[in-house]
Amino acid sequence: CGIVGYVGNKNAQEIILQGLEKLEYRGYDSSGIAVNGKGHIEYKKLKGRLSVLENYLKERPLVGNVGIGHTRWATHGAPSDVNSHPHLNEQETIAVVHNGIIENYSVLKEELIKKGYKFKSQTDTEVVVHLLDSLYDGDLLSTVFKATERLRGAYALGVISSNNPDELVAVRKESPLVVGVGNGESFIASDIPALLKYTKDVYFLENGEIVHLTKDNVKIYDKDKNQVRREIFTVDWDIEAASKGGYDHFMLKEIYEQPRAIKETLLRRLDDNGRIVLDDINLTKEDLDKISKIYIVACGTAYHAGLVGRYAIERFAKIPVEPDVASEFRYREPFIDENTLLIAVSQSGETADTLAAIREAKSKGARILSITNVVGSSVARESDDVFYTWAGPEIAVASTKAYTTQLVALYMVALHMANIKKSISEDYYFEIIEKMKALPDKVEEIFKKSDEIKKIAEIIKDKNSVFYIGRGLDYQTSMEGALKLKEISYIHTEAFAAGELKHGTIALIEKETPVIAVASQDYLYEKMVSNIQEVKARGAYAIAIVKEGLDESLNHADETIYIPEVDNILAPVLTVVPTQLLAYYTSVIKGNDVDKPRNLAKSVTVE
Ligand code: G6P
Repeated sequence: CGIVGYVGNKNAQEIILQGLEKLEYRGYDSSGIAVNGKGHIEYKKLKGRLSVLENYLKERPLVGNVGIGHTRWATHGAPSDVNSHPHLNEQETIAVVHNGIIENYSVLKEELIKKGYKFKSQTDTEVVVHLLDSLYDGDLLSTVFKATERLRGAYALGVISSNNPDELVAVRKESPLVVGVGNGESFIASDIPALLKYTKDVYFLENGEIVHLTKDNVKIYDKDKNQVRREIFTVDWDIEAASKGGYDHFMLKEIYEQPRAIKETLLRRLDDNGRIVLDDINLTKEDLDKISKIYIVACGTAYHAGLVGRYAIERFAKIPVEPDVASEFRYREPFIDENTLLIAVSQSGETADTLAAIREAKSKGARILSITNVVGSSVARESDDVFYTWAGPEIAVASTKAYTTQLVALYMVALHMANIKKSISEDYYFEIIEKMKALPDKVEEIFKKSDEIKKIAEIIKDKNSVFYIGRGLDYQTSMEGALKLKEISYIHTEAFAAGELKHGTIALIEKETPVIAVASQDYLYEKMVSNIQEVKARGAYAIAIVKEGLDESLNHADETIYIPEVDNILAPVLTVVPTQLLAYYTSVIKGNDVDKPRNLAKSVTVE
C-alpha cells in the first residue's frame, strides 16, 4: 500500500492525489483520502483504481489544507469501499491511513468490541482508529504514542484529527515512510516519488519513530519520546527513477525484492511453535483422505511454479499431482470428480484461461484451492481455499518475485497437507520449514554474482539460439529460465530435459551455441556432468549453474555460476535467480524495453 499526508496552506486534496498517483505501483485495488475541513473531517474512499476516486472528487472536491490519502493493496479483507482507507472513528473526529499489517489486531479488536466499539470493515487497520479514539487525551501526539505501545506488527501510519486541525502525526515501524519538508508545508509519504513535485528535502525515519508535523515544523521522536535530530537529505533523482526505488527497471527492483517477499509469505504464517497456519485454507483430514488426485493449473510462469509444486505435493502429501497449462486443460476432458482438488496458480488472479479451467473443474465437482497475489481477485473469489503470496504488486511483465513466492506457497500448502495427513514425520516437517527460513539470505547471496552474470549476458547477447538443460527440478527451472530469457531478450531459447538431448535435440548444437546447464540436484549431478560433456564435445559453449558443495573437479563448463548449498527440493527458489538476472542483463544490453516486452501483457484476460 502507499500513504501520503499533507499539512500546509494549499489545497490538500490536489497534493495528496498527485502523490498517490506516484504510489500506485505499490497497490491499486482501492484508494481514499480524508482532509481536515472546517471543524470536521471530510473523506471519500472507493474501490478500484485511483482514477475512480479522482473522477468522483473532480465533481465533489474535499476542501481543507491538512489531509491523508491511501492507495491499497489488500491483505486483510477484500477490496471494497468500506475496507478502503482512511478509516475513521464513529464520531469521525480521527482518520487513519495504514500501510503494513497489525499482527495483534484480533486481540485488540475483541478488547475494543467489549468497550462498545463497532467495526465496519474487515481490515486490521480499523482497530488502530478505535484504539486511538479510546486513548485520545486532547493531544494527538501523546495519543499516538500510547497507541503504538499496544500495536504489534509492521506498520506506517498517518493520523489526523478534527480536534487538532493543524497537525499530522505519523509513525514508521518496518513499513517505509519518508517526511518531506517544504516552505510552509510538510509532507509524509511511503516513498519519495510522491513528494518530488513539491520538495527534494526529506527526512528518512528510523524504525519505531514518530513524527509530528505542522506546516512550519517537523519534530521526530524515538519510541521513548525523546526528540531526535536528523539531517535533511536532498534527493537528486528524477521522479521516474525514484518510483523504481533507484533501480533502472521494475524487473530489477522486483528481483531484489525477492528475499523480503519470501520472508513475508513464509514467516507471517508460522505460529509460535513454528508450525504453518493457513487461515484461508479449510482442508480437514477427511477432505484430504478423500482427495485421490490433484491438478495444478496455470499459465506462463505460474505454470512453471506448478511443475515444482507437483514435486513438493507428491513428496510431502503423497497425493498424485498432474500439472497442466490452463488453456489445454479444459479442452482435453480431464478426469474430474468430487475427489479431485484443483490448485490454480495465478499472480494476477484474472487470467482468463485459468479462470475457465477453474469453472470447468468446479462444474464437475472439484474443490478449488488457489494461490494468487491479488486479494479479492476473480480467481480468489471463485475458490474454496486461498493462499495469498504476499509479494506486493508486480509491475514488470516478466514475472520474478511472484514466481518465487508461488514456489514458497506451494511448498507450504504441501507441508500443510502433509501435517494434516501425517504423511511425513514431524522431524522432517520442521526440518524443511527451517531450511525454508534460510532461503531469503541465500537469494541475497546470489545477487553478489551480478557481475559474473553480466559477463555471460555479453556472451549470449548476439546468439540466435540458447538452450537450457536440466534434470528433475533443474528441468523445471530450465523451462522458467528459458521463458524469462526469450520473453525479454527476444533470443530464441528452449529448455530440454538433459536426458532427452541424445534423442534428437543434440542435432541443434553448433559451434559456440550457448547451453546453460542447471545442476543443483545431488543425485543427478554426475548425469548432468556427462550431459555437459556431450554438448561441449559438439562445440557448445557451456554455462553451468551449479550448487556449491557438488564436486567442482567434475565440472568442465566454460563458465559457472555457483548458488548456495540448499536442500534438493527447495533448490528451484535459488536456481531461478541467476536465470532472472541473466535475462534481465541480456535485455538491457540489447536495449530492449525490459519492463514492457513487445507483444506481451502483464495480465491476459482473453482466452
Ligand atoms: C501473462 C504474463 C506472464 C504470466 C501469465 C500468467 O502471460 O505475461 O508473466 O506468467 O500471464 O499470469 P497470472 O497472472 O495468471 O500468473
